[in-house]
Amino acid sequence: MSRPAEVRKTVSETYARAVVQPPGSGSCCGGPVPQGVAATLAGYSREALAALPPDAVRNSFGCGNPVALAEIREGETVLDLGSGAGIDLLLAAKLVGPRGKVIGVDMTPAMIERARANAAAAGLANVDVREGIIEDLPVDSDSVDLVISNCVINLSPEKQRVFAEIHRVLKVGGRFSISDIVAEPMPDWVLQLTVLYSACISGAIPEAEYLAGLRNAGLDDVEVRDRLVYEPAQLGALLDSELSGSCCCGSDALPKAEVDRVTRAVAGKVASIRVVGRKPAEIIP
Ligand SMILES: C[S@@+](CC[C@H](N)C(=O)[O-])C[C@H]1O[C@@H](n2cnc3c(N)ncnc32)[C@H](O)[C@@H]1O
Repeated sequence: MSRPAEVRKTVSETYARAVVQPPGSGSCCGGPVPQGVAATLAGYSREALAALPPDAVRNSFGCGNPVALAEIREGETVLDLGSGAGIDLLLAAKLVGPRGKVIGVDMTPAMIERARANAAAAGLANVDVREGIIEDLPVDSDSVDLVISNCVINLSPEKQRVFAEIHRVLKVGGRFSISDIVAEPMPDWVLQLTVLYSACISGAIPEAEYLAGLRNAGLDDVEVRDRLVYEPAQLGALLDSELSGSCCCGSDALPKAEVDRVTRAVAGKVASIRVVGRKPAEIIP
C-alpha cells in the first residue's frame, strides 16, 4: 500500500471508531458539538442545531461552519468534502431546497451510513452521499456551484490533489467555503506522535501554504474570512478531549502529562480558518 493510502486507512479507522462512540465520550477534530471545544467555537446557531436530527449533531467533528456566510442559493448543487455524519450536508440541503442537490463524499463507510440515515431522518430527499476519496472525487467535472468542507483537508496526505479536484468539479464562477485547521511548523517530536494526525494537528500545514495551494490549483479570489487561533486553554481542552480519549487513540491514548507537554509546544501555532474563493473563467488567448 502506498504511504498516502496508509495514512487514509489510519484516518478512516479512527473516524469509524469515533462515530460509534456514545455521546460525549471522546472525540476527534472537535468532537460532538455540545461537548467539543472546537465545534462549540464553530459558530452553529442553537436554532439550526435544534432543527437537525440529534445524531447528526452528536457526530459532528468539524472545526468551523462552512455553510455560514456561503450565501447558498435555492436550486444550487453543493458538494461537501469529507461529509462525515452529515451536519453541513443537512444544513446546505435545506438551503438549496428540493430543486437543488447536495452531494457528500467520504471514505469511511460508517460515516456514510450515518449521513444517509440522518438525511432520511430529516426528511431530505436531495442529499446524495457517495463513497470515495477527496483526492479523486466521484463527481463530474464542471458540475458543482459550491464546494464546502469542514475540518477534513488537513487530514489529506495529498492536499494539492484535493485542491486540484476542487478546481475540476467546480463550474466556472463556482465558489468554495472551507473550514479547516492550519498550523505553523511544530517541533519534530510533536510531529512524530502519530495520534496527533487524526486529531487534525500534525497533518495541518501553515496558512500561507494552504492559500498558495488553492491558488496554484487555479482558484481565484482566495481569502481568509475568519480565523481563530486557539488560546492555550482552548487548545489544552481540545487536545485533552482528543488525545486522552479512546476515539482517536485507542491504546495509544496519551497520559495527561504528555498532553500538557504537547499543548505547551503547539500553543499559538494552531488555528481554525474559513477560507473562500472561486473558479475563474478561463482566459482564451
Ligand atoms: C474531522 S471529520 C469531519 C466530518 C464532517 N465534515 C463534520 O464536520 O462533522 C473528517 C471526515 O473526513 C473523512 N475523510 C478524511 N480524509 C478523507 C479523504 N482523504 N477522503 C475522503 N474522506 C476523508 C473522514 O472519514 C471523516 O468522516
